[in-house]
Amino acid sequence: MAEVTRKIGLSLGADICWPICYEHIVRQLDLTIPLEGDRVRFDVERVSIEPFDLRQPCPYDVVIDRLTHWFHTSREWIKKSIIMDGLYVFNNPWSVQSMEKCTTYCAMMHLGLPIPETWLVPPKAYEPSTDLDTTLQSYAKLFSLEELGNQLGYPLFIKPYNTGGWVGVSKIDDAEMLKQAYDESGKLVMHLQKAVLPYDVFVRAIGLGPQVNVIKYDPAAPLHDRYKIDRDFIAAEDESLLRDMVLTINAFFGWDFNSCECLRRDGAYHPIDFANPCPDSQVTSLHYHFPWMVMAKIRWSIFCAATKRPFRRNLDWAPYYEVREKDLPYREQLREYGKLADRHFDTERFRDFCDEHLTHLDEVAWEFFGTAVAKEAVRRKVTALFPEHEVEEFTEHFWGLIQFWRRHHSGRGQASGA
Ligand SMILES: Nc1ncnc2c1ncn2[C@@H]1O[C@H](COP(=O)(O)OP(=O)(O)O)[C@@H](O)[C@H]1O
Ligand SMILES: [Mg+2]
Repeated sequence: MAEVTRKIGLSLGADICWPICYEHIVRQLDLTIPLEGDRVRFDVERVSIEPFDLRQPCPYDVVIDRLTHWFHTSREWIKKSIIMDGLYVFNNPWSVQSMEKCTTYCAMMHLGLPIPETWLVPPKAYEPSTDLDTTLQSYAKLFSLEELGNQLGYPLFIKPYNTGGWVGVSKIDDAEMLKQAYDESGKLVMHLQKAVLPYDVFVRAIGLGPQVNVIKYDPAAPLHDRYKIDRDFIAAEDESLLRDMVLTINAFFGWDFNSCECLRRDGAYHPIDFANPCPDSQVTSLHYHFPWMVMAKIRWSIFCAATKRPFRRNLDWAPYYEVREKDLPYREQLREYGKLADRHFDTERFRDFCDEHLTHLDEVAWEFFGTAVAKEAVRRKVTALFPEHEVEEFTEHFWGLIQFWRRHHSGRGQASGA
């Protein structure tokens, strides 16, 4: 048996807390996995930013990418490495680059998901450019914002077709507010979307490979308190539906790591924001759920690296369209999409792999999240985000919630999420 080492690269920007935890836990797992005649070991390294020869080989088997959606030198390096070296990256950089919120709405509307009625409007203002005036004078149709607002009905939400982080998002209650918000939106291209209000449940479901964590969410709470700790707040069937929904979205767009915001109204779950392929991974927002995210990342990246999971360079939408053509009742249709997604993520093999090779992860992580190193990782993230006089208080706050997670999982073996 030959000993081979798989290299996992962490492509990072301002991430502080999870990489420290990821690196320590993987080191402590000390994995040697017998696979197809080899003994597979793992190395984790942070990817540096430097000039590169387009023909230079990529040293990594898997890269967890948190940077290239905005840092384009590394984005081109990642794309080159996928094309030329078969690198496995999450997430697919071409898909991240091109699948804006609007595309994701259209695709999931087309597959039959209950996305609220949404319009796209041309922007209020433009960057001057040579052809702009001729183009607008020839083709831009005058439209009445007021009529559009009346047609959609109030309340509605105005929000950019692409960005995230609540930038430019407003709730609109009447025509006057709509006019003002549109005037202030400047050069942004905006959606007008019917509000799902009132809702009785707001969830953020995080998908990592075939693992899905459905978390109750309160958008009105301060940033550090939006993810809730409630357990069993929805029925098992609802959780299963959300799992199918999230995996369908993620498999469809080639995103291994994404989050989906969904609002429940009259028993139906309406997804409103699911183009988040670099989802929040910080302890300062995930707190209690942070260990789950770190462990889910470890499971999926180790699985992909160990098994040399082939990277799908092109998306394949045809099977989803074929299911759509069958005109099945909604839940059945979603289940069929979910099956395609499970096939895409190789869910069964992944579960078997975790059961066989990662049984000690729960215990190692549980121990780790009680150590001074873990607490220091929390403190460093808090120091980066909070004013100095709040660092101590918030470090203890987030640390306390992680210890609460440990109390809930002290039986070990329960921390998995596939
Ligand atoms: N159609 C909607 N119905 C109800 N609430 C909405 C709707 N669209 C947006 N919101 C609210 O506004 C917030 C921000 O909008 P979202 O689409 O998630 O933008 P971003 O991508 O910037 O996070 C959501 O978390 C939710 O609280
Ligand atoms: Mg959002």
